[in-house]
Amino acid sequence: MSPLPRATFDELGQKNWNYAIRQFETPSRSTVFFCDFLEERQLMKPGDHLVDFGAGAGAVIHYMARRYPEIRFTGLELNREMVDYGNKRFRDDHLDDRCRLIQGDCYYPDKGLLGDLDGIISIHTIMFLNDIEAFINAVASLQPKWFATNSLFYDGMVDAFVEIHDYMDALKSGGHTIRPYNFFSIPRIRESFERRGYPVFQSMPFEIDIDLPKRNDGGMGTYTEKLENGKRLQISGPLIVSWYFLYASK
Ligand SMILES: C[S@@+](CC[C@H](N)C(=O)[O-])C[C@H]1O[C@@H](n2cnc3c(N)ncnc32)[C@H](O)[C@@H]1O
Repeated sequence: MSPLPRATFDELGQKNWNYAIRQFETPSRSTVFFCDFLEERQLMKPGDHLVDFGAGAGAVIHYMARRYPEIRFTGLELNREMVDYGNKRFRDDHLDDRCRLIQGDCYYPDKGLLGDLDGIISIHTIMFLNDIEAFINAVASLQPKWFATNSLFYDGMVDAFVEIHDYMDALKSGGHTIRPYNFFSIPRIRESFERRGYPVFQSMPFEIDIDLPKRNDGGMGTYTEKLENGKRLQISGPLIVSWYFLYASK
């Protein structure tokens, strides 16, 4: 069988778009629980400025800005179109006095552009990165009081670099998409933050509280299986996905 062509940039872009804008309508359970996680640690303080690394089109910021009306948000995002889309959305929804997206690379954040900040968050972005040490370096270079993230992690001394080749797209468009789904070691991240002056560290698995049905379309769509102890496994395509919330502070 001859290899299928990879998806064009536009096709992959469309897939990212679908993902990036769906939370404007309904925030995902993990986003709602992530905010609970931040609140429980008394991190959502009126007057603070939070920066979101890999903010997409700003859908999570949009939800958080409505939930925390006295906090300011800046999202850093590589994709220019998403930045423009999100900023327009903030203007249309009268959130632009407290929310903005700027184009930039979270490996090389521009302190001057970001301004003073209190905390850094990052949602479903670390799994797309290949160099976790460089990422933590970039976070620490901005000297936030704290950092918190929601991504794929493993509570052991193992990283897993997974490359998803999604042939569902081949059926639709004749191409296939390729994207990372990387899992990083929690103890290694803890040690890395500690070394950079962030001794407080907590991790918590995200346990979803609703059943997600299997779509039987053979793609990556996440579904749940209930275990005997009542917890739910989350499964995306061939992977059991272990979502965690992590928190590091000075
Ligand atoms: C899965 S999306 C998550 C977007 C958003 N946090 C959300 O949950 O809707 C990951 C985003 O990270 C962005 N990204 C990837 N690498 C980046 C980098 N080095 N700097 C800034 N953004 C990056 C991608 O363009 C993409 O929009």
